Amino acid sequence: PVRRVLCLAGSLRRDSWNRRLLHAAIDQAPSTLALTVYTDLAAVPLFDEDLEQHDPAGPAGVQALRAALVAADGLVIATPEYNHSLPGVLKNALDWLSRESPLGEVLVDKPVAVLGASAGPWGTRLAQASLRQVLHTCGALVMPTPTLFMANAAAHFDGHGTLIDDAGAQALQRFTRAFEQWIGRMAPATAEASI
Ligand code: FNR
Repeated sequence: PVRRVLCLAGSLRRDSWNRRLLHAAIDQAPSTLALTVYTDLAAVPLFDEDLEQHDPAGPAGVQALRAALVAADGLVIATPEYNHSLPGVLKNALDWLSRESPLGEVLVDKPVAVLGASAGPWGTRLAQASLRQVLHTCGALVMPTPTLFMANAAAHFDGHGTLIDDAGAQALQRFTRAFEQWIGRMAPATAEASI
């Protein structure tokens, strides 16, 4: 079956390395994975329990993100590293998604894969560790391996944001194939049975 995967970059920056990494992942993914990059993270307001009380479905920007996640079989998050952790804009979105809503707790039992790109030499290691901790707390099923830390991001892309190195392409092929398998392993047993 074709698995639908929502891809979220934890950056609002137009030329984000992390969004470029996601587009490169789409190019390298098996044809049985349908990946789409979420483009409206900026529409998610700052979390506020008063907004939740006003409308349990949350503001429109939150409803759209939740609906996109519910419609997906898995979630891929490319996180930048800010001050050795995940950016507030990403944490804020995850805080919204962690909450009970008319669509349920949408991160619970959701297969999630984490990767990231940084301009510096460490490739978002610490941000990914923080992000994993948050995702575990939210009940997501986080793929343990393979990891993918893209360091020195500027060296991996051309001026148009296209991935230019073979090692990066191969790592993204391994990563997306592994995630497809992870989704399959994590999928609840269906009612179908052959006897
Ligand atoms: C950074 N950056 C950064 N890089 C890193 O490797 N470790 C870090 O702790 C930080 N801290 C940090 C804090 C803040 C507030 C900013 C704005 C930036 C640099 C960061 O990795 C770089 O800006 C990336 O390009 C951000 O990802 P996108 O937007 O390109 O996807």
